Order: sequence, then C-alpha cells, then structure tokens
Amino acid sequence: MQDKQRQILVTNALPYANGPLHIGHLVGYIQADIWVRFQKMLGNECHYVCADDTHGTPVMLRAQKEGITPETLIENMGKEHLADFTEFAVAFDNYHSTHSPENQELANTIYEALDKAGHINKRTIKQAYDPEKEMFLPDRFIRGECPKCGTADQYGDSCESCGATYSPTDLKNPVSAVSGATPIEKESEHYFFKLGDFENLLHEWTRAGHLQGEVTNKLDEWFEAGLQEWDISRDAPYFGFEIPNAPGKYFYVWLDAPMGYLASFKNLCDKTNLNFDEWCKAGSDKEMIHFIGKDIIYFHALFWPAVLQGSGFRTPSAVYANGFLTVNGQKMSKSRGTFIKARTYLNHLNPEYLRYYFSAKLGSGVDDIDLNLEDFTARVNSDLVGKVINIASRCSGFIKKRFDGQLSDSIHDTDLLAELVAANDSIKRAYDSREFSKAMREVMILADKVNQYIDEHKPWVIAKEENKDDELHAICSMGINCFRLLVLYLKPVLPVIAEKTEAFLNIEPLQWRDTETTLTNHKINKFKPLMTRIEKESIEAMIENSKEDLEATSNETVATGPLADNPIADEMTIDDFMKVDLRVAKIVKAGHVEGADKLLQLTLDLGGETRNVFAGIKSAYNPEDLEGKLTVMVANLAPRKMRFGLSEGMVLAAGDGKGIYILNPDEGAEPGMRIK
Ligand code: 2FM
Ligand code: ZN
Repeated sequence: MQDKQRQILVTNALPYANGPLHIGHLVGYIQADIWVRFQKMLGNECHYVCADDTHGTPVMLRAQKEGITPETLIENMGKEHLADFTEFAVAFDNYHSTHSPENQELANTIYEALDKAGHINKRTIKQAYDPEKEMFLPDRFIRGECPKCGTADQYGDSCESCGATYSPTDLKNPVSAVSGATPIEKESEHYFFKLGDFENLLHEWTRAGHLQGEVTNKLDEWFEAGLQEWDISRDAPYFGFEIPNAPGKYFYVWLDAPMGYLASFKNLCDKTNLNFDEWCKAGSDKEMIHFIGKDIIYFHALFWPAVLQGSGFRTPSAVYANGFLTVNGQKMSKSRGTFIKARTYLNHLNPEYLRYYFSAKLGSGVDDIDLNLEDFTARVNSDLVGKVINIASRCSGFIKKRFDGQLSDSIHDTDLLAELVAANDSIKRAYDSREFSKAMREVMILADKVNQYIDEHKPWVIAKEENKDDELHAICSMGINCFRLLVLYLKPVLPVIAEKTEAFLNIEPLQWRDTETTLTNHKINKFKPLMTRIEKESIEAMIENSKEDLEATSNETVATGPLADNPIADEMTIDDFMKVDLRVAKIVKAGHVEGADKLLQLTLDLGGETRNVFAGIKSAYNPEDLEGKLTVMVANLAPRKMRFGLSEGMVLAAGDGKGIYILNPDEGAEPGMRIK
C-alpha cells in the first residue's frame, strides 16, 4: 500500500548578506537539499524555500565601507549566494530576501498581533554609543582589553584568548570599532518580547518530538537559567524595517530573519496556486521543517515557536540542527588555506564530490563532521568512480557495439537483482531519518556485490569466445540494470549524475517506486563518462587559491582603514626595524596571472638584480600603467612558493578596504637604494 502523501514546507537557515558562502555553510544546505530531493522522489509534495538574511548593522556598515547602498549590497550578495547554491545543485523552489514587501508585511502583522496580545514590553536601557558615528554599538563592534586576562583588542562580548564572556561595559579601554572613538553609555527605549509568557508552551513543545534528543537536553539548561525577555528593537541608524508607530526604532534582524522563511513561501504562493494560510496559519495540517546550524538553536527552538504561537501562526513540525565542519581535523583556517569559499571550491572541483562526501559523513545528530582532504579524494575515487560508475563503463561498451544498444529481454541473476530491490526499504528509512551515512554505506555494499558479479562473469573474456553472445548480452544487461538501481538510490545526493544516467539509459526521471521495474528489451544510448577522478593537483590548487584570497589583503604591508580597524602594532626596537631591508625597485614588467583573481606578476629591478613578485593589487592597477614606475619593496623576505610560482619579495602598499595604493619614492630615487 502507498503511504499517504506528505505535504512539507522545508527551509534552510538564511545566509547572511554580508559575505560569501563557504564550504562550512554548505553542510546544512546540501543536507536539506538531499532530504527534499528524496521526499520529491517518493512523490511527496515538498516546497523548499530560502532567502538572503539582509538586515542589521554589519550589512549597513559594510555597504558604507564599500560606498554603496545596503540595497545594492544585498542585491549583489543575494545573486552571488543563489549562483553558488545553483552550482552545488541546491535546488530551492523559491529564493527570496528578508528585505521584501512580503517580509515587511509579515513583520508588521506578527508584531502587531504580539503587541495586541500583551506580549511586548517597553523599557529604557543603557547601551554603548559611538558619539562620533552617532550610533549605538552592537557588542561585536566594541573592542578593548579583556577584563579577565588583559589581552588587547577583544570583542565586546567575549575574549578570543581566554574564552571569558562578559558585557561590553566590562572591557578595559574600550573603543568603537567603527570610528575609533571611546564609547559612552546612553539611554534609549527598547521593545522586548516577553518570552516568559510562553514558558509552558515551550516546555511542552521542546519535548514533543520536534527536536533532536541532544537539542532538547541543551534547551533544559536554558529553561533552568530562566527565559529572559528578548530585546527586539534597535535604534536608527539601522538597516531594517521600522517598527509600526515607533519612529526611529527598527526590528532587530533576528526578529524578521525567520519570518523570511514565511515571506519566501508567501512569494512562492503568490506565483503558484498554493494557499499560504492553509500552510502557515495556526491549525495547519501540513508540515513545516527548518534545517539549521547548531549555533542558532536558541532562535529556532525558543523565540521562533513562541513568536509564531503568539501571533496566530502554526509552530514548526521539526527543527533539525547540523554540526560544524572541520577541515583536516581542525577549524577552517585562512592561513592553512582550508577556509574554502563555495566559489573557490567550484573553480576547482565537481560539486557532487562534496555532496557525496558530506552524505557519507552525515547522521541525524548535531555532531561536527570532518572533511579530511586525503580521505575525501580516496573515498570519492574509490566509491563513486571506482565502484558505481565503473559498472556502467564495464558493461555499456559491449551493449552498444555488439547489441546495437539493445538490452536483453530477461534478467540474468534474479537473486542479485532482488537483493538490490529489497534494499529499498532500509535505504528509504535511512534517508527519511537523515541517516545519510547509513544510506551511502548500504549503497556501496550493493555496488561491491555488483562488481563482484561482473568480476565472476568476466564479460571481457566471454566477449572473445565464440557462441557466447547471449551470455555476454545477459551479463552486461544485468550490469546496466543494477547500475540503474544504484543511481536511483544515489539520486538525491547526485542529481547531476542521475540526470546524465537517465539520458544514457534513455529513461524518464527516476522515481523511488521505479525499483519495481526493470529495463529489458530497451534501447540505451552511448555511454559518456559521468565523473572523473579527483586529482591531487586540483585539491592543492584549491588550497593555494584559498590562501591567495588572504594574500590579496595581507601580502603587502597594508595600512587599512581607520586605526580602530587595524590598531598600531606592538612597539619594536630600531634593531627590529633594521632587519627589514626596504629597497627602491623599478617595475620593469607587470602582467596578469592566469587563474588568480587578485594578483599581478611584477618583475622588479633592484639596480642590477631582478625579482619576481606576486602582488595582490590587481583590483587597483592595470599592468601597463605600472611598467616603468618606481616603488618600494621588502628585499630580504624569504622567497615564498605560491601556486603560480616563486614570489621573491613584497611590494609595499596602503589600503583602506576600498582602494590599494602602492608606495612611490620621491623623484630622484634610484632602483636599489635602501630605505631607512
Ligand atoms: O546565522 C545566520 O547566518 C543567520 N543569517 C541565519 C538566519 S536563519 C533564519 F532565522 F532566518
Ligand atoms: Zn581574556
């Protein structure tokens, strides 16, 4: 009997619009995308939506720094995010923005309902204020000495050195990271959401099977600490939605961010014949499932259900949190080149490698997963290329050449095929419960069995023997049938390979129920390679490229922005300084570097000696304008091997985040002169 069709709205945490995606972000998106693809293959009605999370101080300040409006910044960033998602085959049914009319309307409606029901409080609080920039400062924008260990230049909420957490007023010698001014304390009226009004509901809801077990346990700690009122307003200047009847007060970004799920879905409903109220209002019989990272559980498991309940909307059916990503066993690191942006990955490697590897590691819990690059290479090459795709390449050639592409009219080894079909249930359960690593394990065990079958029957030997055509036909057709089932099971993870396979097999898009059928007496197309092996060089190039992103800002001695952004370094002695051999250098040749986004290659004349230097100045200079110019270089820096060649020194430049300015000595200076 067919299961009843499910109706599910699925969301992913909304990426923040002040920066690009990195591969750590992709764990959750790939996880949800696989789950959604699986539900759709089963024939369930599933709508998968997301949006850019656009509001707040970081977006406002970044736009100012770049000299553009926040609207332009979020539009560009939204496009970048969506392009990355699309290339990773994360296929949202709708991608929207929290800075949208739908979200504005939802924010107002929800807020007004909460206010009317008495869930909003107002009171005056004291906060750090930047008197120069004339704005209140979020904790992250105040820097100072840690009150516990004294380490300089720490954030206003926690110390990176000793791990202490505190409030910004505890910091010693605080400065505003925006202007460098000393913050003052200033009063202002804030709006609060009375989370405590929902204590009973939340107590029940968090224990009713909507959350993973370990998440419910974590929430207990928060219940014990007491549910505090939540500050949901921010004062102008702020990029966001103004609170109704409260001029100069804005909704805090975290209030309208999750509403963005509903706004994106509303936008989809308006384009289709879906009924928003049926899905989203209290009493809905549909499912609403949020996939998030474990760092934002508090917002989704406490504030969000309470806000929804208090305003007449349905509460989530489930919130599924995933863990963080480490690379080679460590936190992603810019200096090691393991802080890999989604785009950098895409420039070097096939996205389905990563989709498979994450699946092979993902369970239903909140454990962190590790991308070990050696294991990644070995596993993808062995499992996908060596086991699965190899089956098709071993069998398809004979079918094409010897049988004109026609598969035989019966199944050669019905027991083996039955074994593959019987795995349907358990693989299905594994996908449905987000135990993807279990599903991948089962599929690979089946792939091993099919390869064993081919090894035993040796079609390449039979092909040379006389009167063995029927046998050869039956064996290779069996191989192709098994391959079809393996690809079906892998389709949620490898949608691109599945699509190419469907074209190769000349079949309609595979659905989960298609395990019930076989391909006999059926004509297939010519086999084209479906995936190539991961080459070590591609991984190395990706790592080098990730370092290069960093080099573009740190290769030169760049004096960036206001001093507060980049405080004066610790004092040094004249002897320290004399170690640095600065020389006048003439740029005799300048050119682009293939494959580098930010570097130019310079040939520098040091008065008799030439040096090859890669400098991260491409965004500011045309190579031809540089040739013939004098500049200043660090001449005794140890040469550094980069992906593009050896860099034998460093050119000095100043920068402020907007421009880069190389240093020029005054007229009369000669190449090779020492600077003291
Ligand atoms: O943590 C983040 O990056 C947030 N932008 C996630 C928002 S999820 C939802 F609430 F919108
Ligand atoms: Zn400290």
